[in-house]
Amino acid sequence: MSNSVPLAGKRILLVIAGGIAAYKSLDLIRRLKERGASVRAILTEAGARFVTPLSVQALTGDTVYQDLWSLTDESSMGHIQLSRDADLVVVAPATADLMARMAAGMANDLAATALLATDKPVLMAPAMNVRMWLHPATQDNLARLEARGVRRVGPNDGDMACGEYGPGRMAEPLEIVDAIIGVFTERAGPRPLAGRRALVTSGPTVEAIDPVRYIANRSSGKQGHAIAAALARLGAAVTLVTGPVRLPDPPGCTTVAIESAQQMLDACRAALPADVAVCAAAVADWRVKGAAGHKLKKDGGGPPVLELEENPDILATLSRAESRPALVVGFAAETRDVAAYARAKRLRKGCDWIVANDVGLGTQTFGGDANTVHVIRADAEESWPTMSKDAVAERLARAIADHFTQNESTQGDTR
Ligand code: C5P
Repeated sequence: MSNSVPLAGKRILLVIAGGIAAYKSLDLIRRLKERGASVRAILTEAGARFVTPLSVQALTGDTVYQDLWSLTDESSMGHIQLSRDADLVVVAPATADLMARMAAGMANDLAATALLATDKPVLMAPAMNVRMWLHPATQDNLARLEARGVRRVGPNDGDMACGEYGPGRMAEPLEIVDAIIGVFTERAGPRPLAGRRALVTSGPTVEAIDPVRYIANRSSGKQGHAIAAALARLGAAVTLVTGPVRLPDPPGCTTVAIESAQQMLDACRAALPADVAVCAAAVADWRVKGAAGHKLKKDGGGPPVLELEENPDILATLSRAESRPALVVGFAAETRDVAAYARAKRLRKGCDWIVANDVGLGTQTFGGDANTVHVIRADAEESWPTMSKDAVAERLARAIADHFTQNESTQGDTR
C-alpha cells in the first residue's frame, strides 16, 4: 500500500442518509477517489433532499443506487451484490433514523437492506442534532451497533446547523478518510499487542460531598477511551477503568465504571498484572474529608466548611507497585512550560513515558476532539502535530506496540 494512494483498489460503498451533513459526503467521495478508492453510492430518499443524485453520480462516476424496487438496478446489481461487492460500507451521514433501523435490523429501503445483507465491515459517521444524539434511544442503538462490530468516527462537538452546540456534527471528510484507512490497516495489519494486557484509566473522578453533591472536573474521557479502543484494535486485552463520562464503552474492552479516585485505584489494582498501564484519567487531587452520609441541610448556621484530604496518586502507585506494569504511561496537562513540567513529573511519578498536553486557555483540549501532545521518555522526546484524539490514541498505541517489539528483540520476550 503506497502512501500517496493508501486506498488503491479499495471498493467503498457509501450510504448517504438524509442530514444536512450530506453535503460533506460529496467532498468525502472526492477525497476517497484521490486516494485510489472506487466509490459506489446509495442515496436514501431523505438523502436526496439534501444532495442531488446528479452530484453524487458525477463524483462517483457510477450509477447512484436509490430504489430497492428499481428493476434496472435490481437486475444489474441486486442489493446483496451491492453490499458484497464492496470492501467496506461507509454510512455518512449516519442519521438517528438510519442508526435505529440498522440497530433493529430493518430492511425497509435500499440502504437498510444493503446494511443488513452485507458481510463486510461497516463504518458510520453519525450526524444529528445534539439532543437526538444524546437521547437514550440513540445511545442504546449506538451501543448495540458497536457491540456488533460497527465502527464509528465522530460525531464531533461544535456549532450545529440547527443553532445548538454539542456533539452531533459529522466528522470532517479527512477524519472519515483516516478512519477508513484505519479499518483497512487494522484488518490487514498484524495485532502486535495480541497476548498483552493493558490497563487504561479515563474520564474524571467524582468525589462525594454528601449523598447528592460532589466535586468533579471537566474531563470528557475522549482521549482515554480512544486509547483503550486503539490498544484493543492492536490485539491487547484491555481493562478500561473510567469515571462517569457521556461516551459509549469502547468496543473490545472490559470497562469498569467507578466514581471516586479510591475506587479507581482499587479497580486498577484488581486489573493487575498488566503489561502496560496508561493513566489518562483526570483524577481529583482531593476528596472531601469525612463526606456526610446524609444530605447536608441549610440549617441557618451558614454554609458548611469542606475540609479536603489528598487522594491516592494512581499513576505513582502503579509505577511503584510490586506488580508494576512493564510500561507505565502518564499524562500531564499543563498550561505553561509544558515540556519542562512534564519532564519533572515523569521522574516524580516514577512512570516511563509522559504524554504532555497544553490545556491552557484557548486550546479547547478539555472536552474537545483535538490534541497537541509532546511525548517524553527517558531517552527521547517527540512533539506530535495537532491531531484528533483518535489519531493521538492510534499513534500512542503503535508506539507502545513498537516498544514491546523492540524490547522483545533485544531482551527476549518478557511476556
Ligand atoms: O499530578 P497530575 O494530576 O498533573 O498528573 C497527571 C497524571 O497523573 C495523569 O496521568 C493522571 O491520570 C495521573 N494521576 C493519577 N492519580 C492522581 C492524580 C493524577 O493517576 N491522583
